[in-house]
Amino acid sequence: MAAEGDIKGYAEAQWQGLLGRRRNASTYTAADAIEALYGPLCTRSVEQTFVIAHLAQSLDGRIAAANGASRWISGDEDLQHTHRMRALADAVIVGTDTILHDDPLLTVRRCSGNHPARVIIDPRRKLKGDHQVFTDRSTPTLLITTEDNSNNTPIDGAEIIALPRDGDGKIAPAAIVAALKARGLHWLFIEGGGVTVSHFLRAGCLDRLQLTVAPVIMGSGRPSLTLPEIMDPASGLRPTVRRITLGDDTLFECIFGT
Ligand SMILES: NC(=O)c1ccc[n+]([C@@H]2O[C@H](COP(=O)([O-])OP(=O)(O)OC[C@H]3O[C@@H](n4cnc5c(N)ncnc54)[C@H](OP(=O)(O)O)[C@@H]3O)[C@@H](O)[C@H]2O)c1
Repeated sequence: MAAEGDIKGYAEAQWQGLLGRRRNASTYTAADAIEALYGPLCTRSVEQTFVIAHLAQSLDGRIAAANGASRWISGDEDLQHTHRMRALADAVIVGTDTILHDDPLLTVRRCSGNHPARVIIDPRRKLKGDHQVFTDRSTPTLLITTEDNSNNTPIDGAEIIALPRDGDGKIAPAAIVAALKARGLHWLFIEGGGVTVSHFLRAGCLDRLQLTVAPVIMGSGRPSLTLPEIMDPASGLRPTVRRITLGDDTLFECIFGT
């Protein structure tokens, strides 16, 4: 926690920047934009749990074509944003279908920063070890599966973490967060897909949800978020939202909790 004097000093510097922008719009710099987007995500202590998810979706709420192709729905600015989020994170989390379809590396390449640990949720051990998250050794990979999985054989390039099933037969997101916390991983970035992010949202385990909406209508494909059915639009979640322009796309950051 910063001393009160530090906070005042910081606020004064921000205030001076704002006064400058008010008088001369050209003084609004790229550094200001980066501070505005990422500054609020960096206020917690390093050991405080913070869970943030991101999905890039079409105007009609699709994150991939029906065949699983998702490269690329959003533009370059959002891709760079994703790498910056990885660089801020202790761990990046994805569901097993994202590995099967995209075979991502999940490392930081479009900006400076350290690679986060990689966490794959694969309850049924669908992955065999031939994907890049296992063959690339630039950062550790953790594979989360279920305790009752009879096929808990080791996998080269990954530490296996077995967790119990919850009442729905899934792995409770809170148990995943706790298991990662026990390994010193606190700032967690969930990069998809829609099923995985929906589990965390439904369980109330997200501090922030970033939806980058690209100006494209797909008309078919894999859904972004899927939550239990509601009968009245008034029952929908209405979080506080920040809106940020990323090139041609718009990032909506939903703020849950504090
Ligand atoms: N546009 C984007 O931002 C973006 C980002 C990432 C991926 N994608 C695309 O989205 C598609 C994949 O997304 P998806 O939503 O279909 O699947 P996904 O979220 O990648 O993976 C879902 C699977 O992960 C496992 N899983 C996740 N959370 C779990 C939990 N709490 N408990 C138990 N199992 C859990 C389950 O595996 P089982 O099925 O074995 O039970 C589940 O079916 C791909 O086409 C990919 O290209 C798009």
